Amino acid sequence: MSRRIKLIAGNWKMNGSRAVGAAFIDRLGALRPAAGPMRRMLICPPATLISSMSDGLKALGVMIGGQDCHVQASGAFTGDISGPMLRDFGCDYVIVGHSERRAVHGETDQLVQAKALAALEIGLIPIICVGETLAEREAGQAESIVRAQIAQSVPDRIAPANLVVAYEPIWAIGTGRAATLDDIAAMHHTIRDALTVKSGDAEGGLVLYGGSVKPGNAAEILALDIVDGALIGGASLAAEDFAAIANTVSANA
Ligand code: 13P
Repeated sequence: MSRRIKLIAGNWKMNGSRAVGAAFIDRLGALRPAAGPMRRMLICPPATLISSMSDGLKALGVMIGGQDCHVQASGAFTGDISGPMLRDFGCDYVIVGHSERRAVHGETDQLVQAKALAALEIGLIPIICVGETLAEREAGQAESIVRAQIAQSVPDRIAPANLVVAYEPIWAIGTGRAATLDDIAAMHHTIRDALTVKSGDAEGGLVLYGGSVKPGNAAEILALDIVDGALIGGASLAAEDFAAIANTVSANA
């Protein structure tokens, strides 16, 4: 099987100021992770920074994305941001269904699927997040929970080029405790299987791993053939760490 593109994506969550964004771009510009056809880089800053970071990131070959979008294009939805608004500021991707939004904002699989469809309609690639809690894993339910999330959160028959799923075990997020390579590989195989059932042909789609990815563990995680990239929280805020993680993957075939 020829290697799929690897996507190195940063999720800044609710962190960063204009000064932090500008400093990140300056530093990444000095580090200049090599561009190439087999590796994509993406930063999803908070919505307040999309405008000021978009051009600078693009000049470095780094794409920009949102962290969430509403299902509607516009309207009386105080505090929300729509897919067309993200497109207006040059976003190519949007994260949907992150576990923090599922937990804190009560987002259901059905809502996540509706957001993914709204994103696709406007030309954004949704990064659809799935993952089990520690209690679910300890009860032996991790695979069935994630299969059910895939079945219900991923729209039917997405073109493989627009299909990105991030496996983020909730117990690995922000804990410094990444899943083991065996657990990552096993779940990624399950997800690929579930996506093939769901989408017909999921071969070109990407399945990312997220949860305590750092420069120290990125190389071994990203060396797994079945892992098509990483969704990085905390470490993506430091340009050095983001570049170091990106540089564990060759940009060329
Ligand atoms: P950390 O890399 O900080 O564990 O966060 C992972 C995550 O939630 C990315 O979306």
